[in-house]
Amino acid sequence: MHNIRNIVVLTGAGVSVESGIATFRGPGGLWEGHRVEDVCTPEALRADPELVHRFYDLRRAALKQVAPNAAHFALAALDRAWKDELLIVTQNVDDLHERAGTQRLLHMHGALQSALCAECGIRTAHDGPLPPATLCTTCGAPALRPGIVFFGEMPYSMDRIGDAIGSCDLFVSIGTSGAVYPAAGFVEWANDCGAATLELNLERSGGSDQFDASRLGLASELVPAWVAEVLAQQ
Ligand code: OAD
Repeated sequence: MHNIRNIVVLTGAGVSVESGIATFRGPGGLWEGHRVEDVCTPEALRADPELVHRFYDLRRAALKQVAPNAAHFALAALDRAWKDELLIVTQNVDDLHERAGTQRLLHMHGALQSALCAECGIRTAHDGPLPPATLCTTCGAPALRPGIVFFGEMPYSMDRIGDAIGSCDLFVSIGTSGAVYPAAGFVEWANDCGAATLELNLERSGGSDQFDASRLGLASELVPAWVAEVLAQQ
């Protein structure tokens, strides 16, 4: 690993598992006991807003019971120390990267502690329960919904992510199954742009074959070891 200047890191649910947050594709493919289609689509929100809002209220409240783990802290240390370009893109909707201190961070799938107005499209910080028909503080419409990107919706900041991948020397994917696009396609973009690609995951994922190298194990062990390695060559 030499001559690396610009780095893009993609994280997924696996980075937060050791903090006590369940992965999306848990036993039986369920997310906290629900089919993803029943809680993470615009159709589900229209069909049963009470259920969908309550689901995210519980996830938001659960954040108070968890703390960042060694993987989040290692990435925050990388962010503090890395002098060239670095972008950490997370698919996670928890706030553990920022609580560990990471600043160069994008939440491409939104964040639990945010609300999106279905009427005016403004996103605002939000903590505590968010009942259906809560009034938007910007436009006044009774239209606030969880600030989460549902299936079929466009993830946030795709232009910035595309630019960062286009100019990175190293793309690292951590704790993601590679099942959901467009994030699952980032490794291919990075390969096409000539970057080195590395996967850190508990097990081989759907995209493993596309990486130059895959290291298998716990994020809390693999990530600090990789960060130490990359900082040593800076
Ligand atoms: P998944 O639940 O699909 O995959 C989690 C990955 O983490 C799996 O490959 C596990 O093997 C790995 N893993 C589990 N424990 C680990 C550990 N301790 N250390 C390292 N790896 C570990 O989650 P994502 O790939 O993040 O979308 O899911 C992608 C998207 O699908 C989510 O962002 C969400 C979901 O539907 C939206 O909310 C829009």
